[in-house]
Amino acid sequence: MEYDVKNLNLAQGGRHRIEWAEQEMPVLRSIRKRFAKERPLNGTRISACLHVTTETANLAHTLQVGGADVVLCASNPLSTQDDVAASLVSHYEIPVYAIKGEDNETYYDHISAALDHTPHITMDDGADLVSTIHKNRKGLMDTIYGGTEETTTGVIRLRAMSQQGELQFPVIAVNDALTKHMFDNRYGTGQSTLDGVIRATNILIAGKTIVVAGYGWCSRGIAMRASGLGGNIVVTEIDPLKALEAVMDGFRVMPMQQAAAIGDIFISATGDIHVIDVHHMADMKDGALIANSGHFNVEINIPGLTELATKPPRKVREFVDQYQLPNGNRINLLGEGRLINLTAAEGHPASVMDMSFANQALSAEYMIQNVDELENKVYSVPADVDQEIARIKLEEMGIDIDTLTAKQEKYLTSWEEGT
Ligand SMILES: NC(=O)c1ccc[n+]([C@@H]2O[C@H](COP(=O)([O-])OP(=O)(O)OC[C@H]3O[C@@H](n4cnc5c(N)ncnc54)[C@H](O)[C@@H]3O)[C@@H](O)[C@H]2O)c1
Repeated sequence: MEYDVKNLNLAQGGRHRIEWAEQEMPVLRSIRKRFAKERPLNGTRISACLHVTTETANLAHTLQVGGADVVLCASNPLSTQDDVAASLVSHYEIPVYAIKGEDNETYYDHISAALDHTPHITMDDGADLVSTIHKNRKGLMDTIYGGTEETTTGVIRLRAMSQQGELQFPVIAVNDALTKHMFDNRYGTGQSTLDGVIRATNILIAGKTIVVAGYGWCSRGIAMRASGLGGNIVVTEIDPLKALEAVMDGFRVMPMQQAAAIGDIFISATGDIHVIDVHHMADMKDGALIANSGHFNVEINIPGLTELATKPPRKVREFVDQYQLPNGNRINLLGEGRLINLTAAEGHPASVMDMSFANQALSAEYMIQNVDELENKVYSVPADVDQEIARIKLEEMGIDIDTLTAKQEKYLTSWEEGT
């Protein structure tokens, strides 16, 4: 078996952590149980480009139990958990190409190695497999049924490809599932981003002014959790509706230029470029901390910051690079501007990834079942899959809910009854 991981001796620790995460993934476990019996993915080659974490290991194992032949590479150079990668190779016989801290060239070599698997299904987090195939590996399209996409930024890229008539195979937007973004993006990113900032800095959040760029699914979660820890939240937005929502949720809203001067900690999660730009950083207080939780590190203008600084950055803690500005102020960039929750912490807790990855597993199954009908466009996860995942999750949590009576069902589908 070919693979490229940091050190196979780390495997035992990785296995313990994979099993620990599994305890919080009841939906995926129940899918795995059914997959073991039905083997719906039999003979399907899957190349997955996902953050190599304990939760992803549980997904890869579930796909394997369902009959798939899976290989895995990283969807970000800094998010790989090397012990998990080692365990997948050693204990699960799943080839992994991922090393935490790999340089850009190695990152793309690993994507290429995962594509050498000639996948029937690609599983992306950020559309790197799909875009590489469309740009450099067009020959692979002959055998591909389609792909699935995990995150907002990937879905945006794929919709752009689809609109320009460039997308050459169907893709299911897992991020569109309510059981994905309502929980993973909001509660997962909310908690784990704060976890990342705290682990990187050991800073007290209470009493600090936290500037959150964006008020979408992720950033709303970040604002909510930072507020819960006693931070004074400032939100920046470009969408008037989201800005209004932030105001009504009790947060201050202002342009980034204004926020720059008062913030202690800046966290972006917008999916946009240069949301924190040089002219913002030039106005920041001495010691300001900047982190990103959006998919790409372009949210912060790091090349601009490097140019503005009087000397190369100084590594003051494991995940903190300090830049000295001409005005004497120091700006601290966390985790090289990469998703801070995966760089400095462990990513989303398993309980939310349970639902995200249940969507991935069921979307792969759906793709195989419907391969002849699907066109070359971006599909949402079928609504009944979403409902089913929420139902199992509640059941596993021991929570019962009401069901409509016949009278209520009739009432809700009629229009005659009034006051
Ligand atoms: N860190 C993680 O683990 C993780 C998890 C899920 C998603 N993501 C990524 O986080 C990013 C955001 O995802 P989302 O689901 O919250 O998207 P979203 O579309 O729900 O929210 C993005 C928000 O950012 C706002 N925005 C855009 N440009 C802006 C600007 N210049 N200034 C201020 N606000 C701006 C938009 O108006 C929108 O409200 C994406 O890149 C996504 O892929 C990261």
